[in-house]
Amino acid sequence: MLPWWAWLLIAIGGYTAFSTLWDVFQRKHTIIRNFPFFGRFRYIAEKLGPPLRQYIVTSDLSERPFTRLQRSWAYRAAKGLSNTVPFGTQVDQEGPGVIKFNPAPFPTPDLHASDEMQPVILGPNRLKPYAVKYIANISGMSFGALSRNAVLALSKGAKLAGGYMSSGEGSVSDYHIAGGGDLFYQIGPGKFGCRNEDGTFNEEKFKAVAAREQVKAVYLKLAQGAKPGKGGVLPREKVTAEISRIRGIKMGEDCHSPNCHAEFNDVPGMMRFLNRVRDLSGGKPAGFKCVLGGDEFIREVARYIASHDDGPDFIIIDGAEGGTGAAPMSLSDHMGISLQEALVITDNVLREEGARNKVKVIGSGRIVTGASAAIALGLGADLCHIARGFMFSLGCIQALLCNTNHCPTGVATQSRWLTRGLDPESKSVRVSNYMQAIHHDVMMIVRALGLQHPNDITRKHMSMIVEPGRRVALTEIYPTTMKAFHQTRIIRRADLPAA
Ligand SMILES: Cc1cc2nc3c(=O)[nH]c(=O)nc-3n(C[C@H](O)[C@H](O)[C@H](O)COP(=O)(O)O)c2cc1C
Ligand code: SF4
Repeated sequence: MLPWWAWLLIAIGGYTAFSTLWDVFQRKHTIIRNFPFFGRFRYIAEKLGPPLRQYIVTSDLSERPFTRLQRSWAYRAAKGLSNTVPFGTQVDQEGPGVIKFNPAPFPTPDLHASDEMQPVILGPNRLKPYAVKYIANISGMSFGALSRNAVLALSKGAKLAGGYMSSGEGSVSDYHIAGGGDLFYQIGPGKFGCRNEDGTFNEEKFKAVAAREQVKAVYLKLAQGAKPGKGGVLPREKVTAEISRIRGIKMGEDCHSPNCHAEFNDVPGMMRFLNRVRDLSGGKPAGFKCVLGGDEFIREVARYIASHDDGPDFIIIDGAEGGTGAAPMSLSDHMGISLQEALVITDNVLREEGARNKVKVIGSGRIVTGASAAIALGLGADLCHIARGFMFSLGCIQALLCNTNHCPTGVATQSRWLTRGLDPESKSVRVSNYMQAIHHDVMMIVRALGLQHPNDITRKHMSMIVEPGRRVALTEIYPTTMKAFHQTRIIRRADLPAA
């Protein structure tokens, strides 16, 4: 007869073996699929977190780049769960920088209202305009930075919801195609997918990719907020045979994309290239993505748009707070201006130059909830792009290992084992849920403001807490002409106490 402790050991061993096997084969939770048994401790810690947090230092609002509250909003939205909060807001209502919407005394009735929005049309006068149904779609993240299963899940999720995703710089992969979602093909300085061996632009290769039915628009990437003025680097360990084929690059070497396009170095040159790629695409909407530092560049672009019919159909403004797989800290922390300010500048300049109704503005940069999307719309965007929010919907836990190939959730890695943990089927449902939840939240805000369409939100519907007890209308902080805008900047700076 075995002693009691031996039975206990057998029971523990049996439970551990059974749980481990269960974890390996279940498809719902990536972390425990990738780290059988031990991964369970993360979920226990997550469950115990809120009640224990009153005794442990980090608060719901202290994590960066996204607070725990923002992340849990994204997780719950992706799981299709309610995002109501108990007991009132945790956000400091007197905290400088907090933006408040001005509720309408008579909101738009929502009794039988649907979240369906009149589509935003990109390139209405082109041969193949594109109608956008969701206010926030999936921002560019390459296959290479992301795993194959992550790309597949995003593409399937976009299809399920009826939205679109951007290919990112790494070209259109088999996983974008297999997922079936609508695509925006991004052409970065590395010309991945449409390059000659020396890295120059290859028209025939571009035409082959852009001609695909799934590709709905094409755009040039001048820069992204996390690293303006710096091309991407894909370390050689991540350059698999597949990535080498899709991008048209060599294996066994780091993949560097240059920091600028060889085909142009000024606005007229950029417009010529943009027209060339739009023509080669058969008349699909064409645009560009950039990061601003002031108003000079965008004013030149606006003047071009005002006086020509062949300008960009959309401009993507990425804020300095935008994410990436890997970026030098000096650029990430100090280069470029925030999305808020960049949107205001873009909107003001386009209006001043008479170009606003000829182009759509898409904003991206730390948008993760419906409220942050609505703020971007109110500041001047017509649509939003989201990258990291969609990573959360895939299960990203903000472990901040994206640049190491060891992403534990299988999102930002090329490791076969870690990638296997991310189940594209179940995660695609979360991607779709998240896209719909953001849209639903924005429509809810639209109705609370007494409006009909997300594009009706303007600065006059918002105010900002500038110091405890002082709230200022956004029309005052961000006036609608650049002259007035610069003047408020100067006054505000002069207001500061002497150093
Ligand atoms: C993992 C990762 C990869 C990215 N890859 C690209 C890319 O290939 N091209 C690009 O223009 N931006 C890329 N970005 C930037 C995003 O598209 C977006 O501009 C930026 O992250 C702001 O969005 P977010 O704050 O919603 O993440 C990437 C971002 C992340 C997080
Ligand atoms: S490494 Fe961390 S932050 Fe990056 S995708 Fe994976 S879980 Fe998210």
